[in-house]
Amino acid sequence: MSLNEVTLNLPNYPMEELSKIRQRLISQNKKVFDFGTGDPKIPTWAPIREAVAQSVTPISQYPATRGGPDLIESIWGYCNRNFGIKSGQGFDIMATNGSKEAIFHIALCLVGRAGGKKIIAYPDPGYPVYRSSALYAGGIPYPMHLKAENDFQMEPWTLPEEVQKNIAALWINYPHNPTGAILKKGHLEKIIEWCEKRDVVLLADDCYIDIYNPAWDKEGKKPLTPITYTSKNVYSFMSLSKRSGMTGYRSGFLIGDSRYMGLVGTARANMGVGTPTMLQKAAAIAWADDRHVAERRQIFAKRIELAIPYLQKLGMIEHKPEATFYLWCKVPKGMDDVAFCLRLAEEGVITSPSQWLSEGMKGSMRFALVPEDPDTVEAMEIVTRLVKNL
Ligand SMILES: Cc1ncc(COP(=O)(O)O)c(C=O)c1O
Repeated sequence: MSLNEVTLNLPNYPMEELSKIRQRLISQNKKVFDFGTGDPKIPTWAPIREAVAQSVTPISQYPATRGGPDLIESIWGYCNRNFGIKSGQGFDIMATNGSKEAIFHIALCLVGRAGGKKIIAYPDPGYPVYRSSALYAGGIPYPMHLKAENDFQMEPWTLPEEVQKNIAALWINYPHNPTGAILKKGHLEKIIEWCEKRDVVLLADDCYIDIYNPAWDKEGKKPLTPITYTSKNVYSFMSLSKRSGMTGYRSGFLIGDSRYMGLVGTARANMGVGTPTMLQKAAAIAWADDRHVAERRQIFAKRIELAIPYLQKLGMIEHKPEATFYLWCKVPKGMDDVAFCLRLAEEGVITSPSQWLSEGMKGSMRFALVPEDPDTVEAMEIVTRLVKNL
């Protein structure tokens, strides 16, 4: 069979590697503390679950590709409450099946055989689909290596002129997986200005926008997203996965420049990605409520507070995250990150080394704070013992 070059050269999806290690440990009857994949096991808010059950109809029909009226109205409500954006202000919205497929499919609308600029630039370390989607679309992926020294901010204006000229789209992802970094106001403004000047489409992967330090709620503060600044050439990818603990439901939305959303919708209708109607009902309930999300923020913040002191004592924390449920750490001095994470995995603590989350970044690792509080503490004690005995 003849497979194309992109498929033949795909690296193993790193999370699959992790799940193999996990399975091996389980088959050896070892207790596993799985900080590998960012998929917390907190029960989904009951009204969301009930909505799915109540929405199953005797007759099944194709769902509305762009989202039915109840869902779209609920999403506008969310955007209005959280970002002050209303329908008719230059934005349009469209339901997606979570953000992963939408991230993948947007590349097909932006670069490819039909000409135009070829590069899609994206943060590294970061979500692997930015790269694979650019490749499958026939574009050129361009990883931008983020540095702890400048708080993991993207600085596209520092790229070589030849690269800047050929960038069709720029991904940003703040709050950032894996570092937990947030976007600084001055940086966001500079990024928007740069995109305007260079005619670059700004793509904001905002799936962690609601997962931040709960103290910010009292201060009326939220992580920044470009859609609060402009609709022009900007698209934001939102998701219920992390916000509402709905990774298995596959539901999110795309909001952005209404001038092109119609075309993106027409393209997506060819890709066949309408959200099933019963899930649209559940999603409408989820976007209409912010309280269950505030409760999730408290849970993650508590886990960060539990884990951080152990890692700080070991000198592994450079930045205390204020958002996401990830802890980005330095591995102990002199150790390779893959070797350290594999060693830790043998003790039952599964984490992700930076080399699996990036294109060549070494020396760091990520804890996804998925295990419950007592298990988080037990695992941190295992990490402490291991590092002290190295
Ligand atoms: C940065 C980032 N973007 C996108 C996704 C995809 O999320 P979903 O498709 O569940 O919305 C993830 C999932 O972990 C992620 O970490």
